[in-house]
Amino acid sequence: MPLNAVIEARGLSKVFHTTVRRPGLGGALRSLVSPERVAKVAVRDVDFRVGRGELVALLGPNGAGKSTTIKMLTGILTPTSGEALVAGVVPHRDRERNAHNIGAVFGQRTQLWWDLPARESFAILRDIYGVPEDRYRERIDEYDELLELSEFWDTRVRHLSLGQRVRCDLAASLLHDPPVVFLDEPTIGMDVVVKEQVRRFLRHQVEERERTVLLTTHDMTEVARLAERVVLINHGRIVLDGPLQEIRRRFGGTWQ
Ligand SMILES: Nc1ncnc2c1ncn2[C@@H]1O[C@H](COP(=O)(O)OP(=O)(O)OP(=O)(O)O)[C@@H](O)[C@H]1O
Ligand SMILES: [Mg+2]
Repeated sequence: MPLNAVIEARGLSKVFHTTVRRPGLGGALRSLVSPERVAKVAVRDVDFRVGRGELVALLGPNGAGKSTTIKMLTGILTPTSGEALVAGVVPHRDRERNAHNIGAVFGQRTQLWWDLPARESFAILRDIYGVPEDRYRERIDEYDELLELSEFWDTRVRHLSLGQRVRCDLAASLLHDPPVVFLDEPTIGMDVVVKEQVRRFLRHQVEERERTVLLTTHDMTEVARLAERVVLINHGRIVLDGPLQEIRRRFGGTWQ
């Protein structure tokens, strides 16, 4: 366990309440009159800590609770119970301070303005976060060098390919130099060459910039290349927290 935890989840739980729709016309009418409410426990009593400069992979099958956990840690969702603490801030309570401390990428959804070229979104984010012009230029140059963005950053985001768009999202999430970064499927839709480029980029961010990174992925090659520590979650519960070798030992052939 890291001593100086930058990301901390303490007994974190999230229950979603939804209404189920019964089948058929009669069912639909009955659902309208007396909706059947069901509770879904997406995350259950999750505890873990990530130390400064650590890169940890949050793994698990579809529906395990990875994105829900990340949404609570980024302040998008309020936990049903338990507490999240990120760089000393309770994310959902102090969203503004939290926004300055963290960068976040949700691979499945862009944070950029759909109708603007990516570079214009970067400029808007620069103004929102009050990044000084010289720093902004330095960072843009660095991210362009590492992620090769300039060949498409003048194209509207809606016309970018998935892999291009996520690379722009990655750069955008780091423009304000946050110490903590949450990446939910950051290499989704990327070909193997670009995936490797993004991994190098992330390693650079951790090793040279001392950022703390929590990421999710379904790509075990990525985990092997990037993360020393893995938190495995299933049905909302943590089933393992330890070095990658331990997963390999416990789950053998089913994990690469
Ligand atoms: N807003 C919501 N309302 C109701 N149920 C939800 C909501 N968001 C997530 N869930 C449910 O919570 C569970 C966990 O979902 P979550 O998105 O955290 O999984 P995940 O581990 O990120 O999966 P994936 O690998 O497919 O991205 C799922 O059963 C999902 O259906
Ligand atoms: Mg998810």
